[in-house]
Amino acid sequence: MVSRVIPVDTFDLVIFGGTGDLARRKILPGLFRRFLSGQMPSDSRVIGAARSELDSNGYRQMISDAIAEFGGDEKSDKDGLAAFLARLEYVTVDAKGENGWSELAKLMRKDIVKAFYFSVGPSLFGDLAERLHKHKIADANSRIVVEKPFGRDLETAQALNETLAAHFEEGQIYRIDHYLGKETVQNLMAVRFGNVLFEPLWNNHYVDHIQITVAETVGVGGRGAYYDRAGAMRDMVQNHLMQLLCLIAMEPPSQFGADEVRDEKLKVISELETVDAHHIVRGQYNAGGDGDSYRVDAENPRSFTESFIAMKCHISNWRWSGVPFYLRTGKRMKARTSEIAVVFKELGHSIFDGDSGTHQNILAIRLQPNEGIDMQVTIKEPGPGGMRLVDVPLDMSFAEALGDADIEVADAYERLIMDVIRGNQTLFMRGDEVEAAWRWTDPLIAGWEGRSDVPKLYDAGSAGPEDAMMLMHRDNRKWREVKG
Ligand code: BG6
Repeated sequence: MVSRVIPVDTFDLVIFGGTGDLARRKILPGLFRRFLSGQMPSDSRVIGAARSELDSNGYRQMISDAIAEFGGDEKSDKDGLAAFLARLEYVTVDAKGENGWSELAKLMRKDIVKAFYFSVGPSLFGDLAERLHKHKIADANSRIVVEKPFGRDLETAQALNETLAAHFEEGQIYRIDHYLGKETVQNLMAVRFGNVLFEPLWNNHYVDHIQITVAETVGVGGRGAYYDRAGAMRDMVQNHLMQLLCLIAMEPPSQFGADEVRDEKLKVISELETVDAHHIVRGQYNAGGDGDSYRVDAENPRSFTESFIAMKCHISNWRWSGVPFYLRTGKRMKARTSEIAVVFKELGHSIFDGDSGTHQNILAIRLQPNEGIDMQVTIKEPGPGGMRLVDVPLDMSFAEALGDADIEVADAYERLIMDVIRGNQTLFMRGDEVEAAWRWTDPLIAGWEGRSDVPKLYDAGSAGPEDAMMLMHRDNRKWREVKG
């Protein structure tokens, strides 16, 4: 199998916040890989824009250093790197003042795709959008890319949407949720809608429950100030886990088009029931291993912010009525793993003597690491001695099945930036989706804040607090093991 790279149209991509962490860690190293793969046309340019007093050569050096630090094997391609760096420019721009804007305007080319990546705090979105128009840098074909956090509640998200809408059409706004750019997340849709096998079973007649786990081993050190105001609910659930839930639960869209997919996701979010306080477990990690406790990392000795959350949700519609969706995510857990498991119901009756019939098929979709799909099926235990049944995994690792070379896939950011240039919004969040997600999240957060709820402590390197286990045990179910 040959992986196909289809070049995008020539573009100028301006990155506001071009000297920042995200630009250096993800955006520029990702663009370099797209450049080497032939997907980024060689006459395209990336223009860093930030407050720092730098010239283009200084910027090239900064990005060369960043690629050396954060890039993969491709950084050894010295000629490729030199050719890529030659496509970089830099302008010193003051987002809140007039400095640098006319230089930026002069630099932009006409009649090519123009995209503007707002890799800056949301408080600057309005200033940037306004000046891009005032200086006639952006036009009706330009695209803007914005990062999460998209607000911290419904009100702030609505205000941000209004700010952007004052200058850009919805079709020009690309709100990034990098989980949607992950290879296996898209595979989730391929598995559901490209196979006849699963969709007939994808409902409350056959599915017992669904588990979504995003476990991380890292703590919040280094970004404690942001995280302590967000917590796992705002940082992960409102966006990444919500998107996974939507893709697993949505109705089949009539086609794989931006609005068709996003209309279906929006319906799922709107149909999510509010979650009972007994069905939410919030946790905070203790010191352990070589790490400090959450409160030390967050530099807030009295913090009640959760670094872990588990909850049981329900979607009130015909397909999912009565099927619990268990979500959990946390920092400093046992292993880095993200997976969605669809756990099917037990057989109603076993024809085999001595067999309890308590077998459950499980379809587990592994997002990371080792992307793949694992289907638990029941078979006869090999050997003589009668019909004893045993549950075994049918494991398909994409890397093994497709061959490592061919699965050299773009990381989420590279893929999403190429989609921006192509003008494909399918994997980006629409304004109404983000607002609906906050509409569901806000009362839950207000609920535990109102109760002055204290998160349960859990050991760093564990699977989360004991209460999260109980959330499942009470329902006679159990979480899948957190393992890398
Ligand atoms: C980010 C969160 O959006 O996603 C981080 O702000 C989290 O807290 C990260 O660590 C996880 O992303 P990934 O791709 O490493 O699973």
